[in-house]
Amino acid sequence: RITSVSLRRVLDSRGNPTVEADVLTESGGFGRGAAPSGASTGEYEAIELPASESIAKAREHAVPRLEGVYAGDQRAVDNALRAADGTDDFSAIGANSAVAISMAAAKAAADVLGAPLYQHLGGAFRGENFPVPLGNVVGGGEHAKEATHIQEFLAAPVGAPSVSEAVFANAAVHAAVADVLDERGVPAAKGDEGAWAPPISDAEAFEVVDEAVDRVEDEVGFEIRFGLDMAAAELYDDDREAYVYGDETKSADEQIEYVAGLVDEYDLAYVEDPLDENDYEAFAELTDRVGDRTLICGDDLFVTNVERLQDGIDAGAANSILIKPNQIGTLSDAFDAVELAARNGYETVISHRSGETEDATIAHLAVATDAGYIKTGTVGGERTAKLNELVRIADDAV
Ligand code: PGA
Ligand code: ZN
Repeated sequence: RITSVSLRRVLDSRGNPTVEADVLTESGGFGRGAAPSGASTGEYEAIELPASESIAKAREHAVPRLEGVYAGDQRAVDNALRAADGTDDFSAIGANSAVAISMAAAKAAADVLGAPLYQHLGGAFRGENFPVPLGNVVGGGEHAKEATHIQEFLAAPVGAPSVSEAVFANAAVHAAVADVLDERGVPAAKGDEGAWAPPISDAEAFEVVDEAVDRVEDEVGFEIRFGLDMAAAELYDDDREAYVYGDETKSADEQIEYVAGLVDEYDLAYVEDPLDENDYEAFAELTDRVGDRTLICGDDLFVTNVERLQDGIDAGAANSILIKPNQIGTLSDAFDAVELAARNGYETVISHRSGETEDATIAHLAVATDAGYIKTGTVGGERTAKLNELVRIADDAV
């Protein structure tokens, strides 16, 4: 049973304050979790409060309710968080404190059991599959100004024989992108997730990534494709009813045409948020056109929310869902979304945020839920924290 929950402000990878939670149990279990933070957040996400405000509210309302709750009963922990908050978007205590506590409690429970977190979360019926890591290698949008309009170009080492080889392949693509940019005389800083953020057009970025992927594919001898997070809700202008690419705009139909063309031209493995978060119909149309050969993934569209996912399933919008525990506030809610997705044949992609910490819970979550993919960057300490944890899990060294 939980005997104490302590909360503090720690740094995230952007240098902003975020919430870290420590949970202790009667039998000596200890767990620590930290909330990540998005920059291109979806309109329908659970609410993140300023860290100090969230901590103060959670101390007042949630901590007293959590004392005495059995940490091994994740639903009881998460129900206590929901009851303490009393809203449906965690706007009272903040989804940042909620998710930090939810993850810390799960780790404390695993600690009591002496089991790795993925085993505690996944149980005896967990499969033996490992997720394919999607590695952000070029990006712009809300993660880097003056770079590409498309937020993320993601290496997808779909043919890798092991997690370790996949993780290293993504790092090799990241390095190869730097080489290709250098050969073209393009200087590049890095964006919030460690991807290269070159001042080039989207069209040139496709050439660069395609070339980098080809080079690494030749080296490693297994299939590497790539994909995108277009974060199109950030491109979409409600007033103009158009997707805005600098001086150019595209209507919804033109955007569908553009993305379908890219899928075919580059054999894209994955396209996240190709359309606005309110346009289920356009999502359905694109899925109908190219969903047989690529994953169309809803991030801002679904926000890890079962109701929004159910609407998407009913409409035939997308064929996969991005899972971000802090978008919904608890691990139980994230599991519910995974389960609904799985029952309806939707692929799941467990994901980091652009603002991250060293917390590696999502690596365990991806393994526990048999997710097909995990999106957690390529390089940089807050990203390698998850990637290296995946390598350890695969090596049975956790
Ligand atoms: P965010 O971006 O964490 O800034 O929201 C990640 C994503 O859109 O997938
Ligand atoms: Zn996204």
